Amino acid sequence: MAETVTPSGTTTPGSLLASLDPLLREWLPRQRWFAGKGRPVTGFSPVAATELLPSDGKLGLHHLLVRAHQPPVLGAPAQPGDCYQLLIGVREALPPRLAPALIGHVTGGPLAGHTVYDALYDPRPAEVILEALRARARIGGLRFERDPGQEIGDGLVARLLTAEQSNSSVVYGDTFILKLLRRVVPGVNPDLELPLALAREGCARVPAPTAWLRADVAGDAYVLAVLQPFVQGASDGWELALRELAKGEDFAAEARALGRATAEVHLALARALPTVTLGHGPLRNLVDGMVERLTAAAQAVPALRPYEAGLRSAYRALDELAAEGRTWTAQRVHGDLHLGQCLRSPSGGTAHASSSGGAWSLIDFEGEPARPLSERRMPQPPVRDIAGMLRSFDYAAHSVTPPAPGWAAACRDAYCSGYAEAAGSDPRTDPVLLRAYETDKAVYEVVYEARHRPDWLPVPLSAVRRLATTSPSPRRPRP
Ligand SMILES: Nc1ncnc2c1ncn2[C@@H]1O[C@H](COP(=O)(O)OP(=O)(O)O)[C@@H](O)[C@H]1O
Ligand SMILES: [Mg+2]
Repeated sequence: MAETVTPSGTTTPGSLLASLDPLLREWLPRQRWFAGKGRPVTGFSPVAATELLPSDGKLGLHHLLVRAHQPPVLGAPAQPGDCYQLLIGVREALPPRLAPALIGHVTGGPLAGHTVYDALYDPRPAEVILEALRARARIGGLRFERDPGQEIGDGLVARLLTAEQSNSSVVYGDTFILKLLRRVVPGVNPDLELPLALAREGCARVPAPTAWLRADVAGDAYVLAVLQPFVQGASDGWELALRELAKGEDFAAEARALGRATAEVHLALARALPTVTLGHGPLRNLVDGMVERLTAAAQAVPALRPYEAGLRSAYRALDELAAEGRTWTAQRVHGDLHLGQCLRSPSGGTAHASSSGGAWSLIDFEGEPARPLSERRMPQPPVRDIAGMLRSFDYAAHSVTPPAPGWAAACRDAYCSGYAEAAGSDPRTDPVLLRAYETDKAVYEVVYEARHRPDWLPVPLSAVRRLATTSPSPRRPRP
């Protein structure tokens, strides 16, 4: 039976999914970006299906949004299941170069006898997406949109990035990079919202979105992908830091430049989007969240328990400051800042150049994907991002043998100094707030490592030891 295709490109999702179901149950949990690791997928329900190339030709292409059903986490209430974005390629047979993309051979339903695969591995389907963005196409419920001020040239050859990531990215001729979001939720996506706001502010620290893909599904609006200029020859901060550590080289000048870049982004976000003053009430809510996360973490990870009381004192100290009448400004922030979310271009001698001559940009404004969208879009003290970067220097320094705590300390100081140069305020002058946010981050890391990478648990635990005993007093920033 032929797939029912409306002239707009919308297909009948049920029958397509029925034929893919057994293959996707095996394939989806193996993907790096699959968020429900450790629990089986028991079935799918269709959210939307759009045919981009008909399956009766040499190459078929289907855009799918599917909800994956899984048994709930032990003790947690039943959830509707995460919604994933898939681009399914359809061929009679797969050429060997596409073997890593194989999803499987379909035995029943509308695609019976065909081979289906993850189409992002294949340059041609990836180029179909770029062409649709260029043409600002509307296909079914998919809306391909582009900044009218930016053009997309033709002849750009697509290649999938093979780096470990939580989404999937395709590079087009070293000119653009498309991030296809994998686990999607309806609503405003900060990964598009914030870079667009920063571009309007003229902030050159963040690549300005060139084009993006949205979908309207049963009254829900989704952001599904974002295209932005590709920073050619760039290294991410994590790679660079590890390279310098391996050579025994100092990273302080780069850390300082990163501090400046972070401050510039924060200043631009504070200009572009609303800020709020946090008095005792709202701050108590933030502190309550931190305390709750600590309590849950200590329950889950026994190694944290000896430090629990010390860590609680970090949160209590912040609450006491707020009770005395201290207030803080909250604004939109990056939300998941670490060295891996920073790119340094090769030396170019631009106005933003670091000591090496390269310039730092910040990417990936999605926030911590595990947190609900409403929480990720809330104004927060900018120190949240600073704490993330400070933890990241510590991680880098502990991932070499022997660990290099002195290297991390120099980076942390230089980063704060760079931040202060551009922002006019030094995060170290508010040590109670900084300690609380660093603690919250380290507690999150403890839970993550205990669950996913027990070998790494000593890294956040060494920070926990320090944070549990530090009783900070305001420090004069070092020049
Ligand atoms: N504008 C860009 N220029 C060059 N490389 C980029 C750009 N944006 C992202 N990348 C590369 O893609 C990787 C993943 O991008 P990111 O937005 O962090 O995706 P994810 O949400 O999957 O973490 C980055 O670590 C970086 O190596
Ligand atoms: Mg990232």
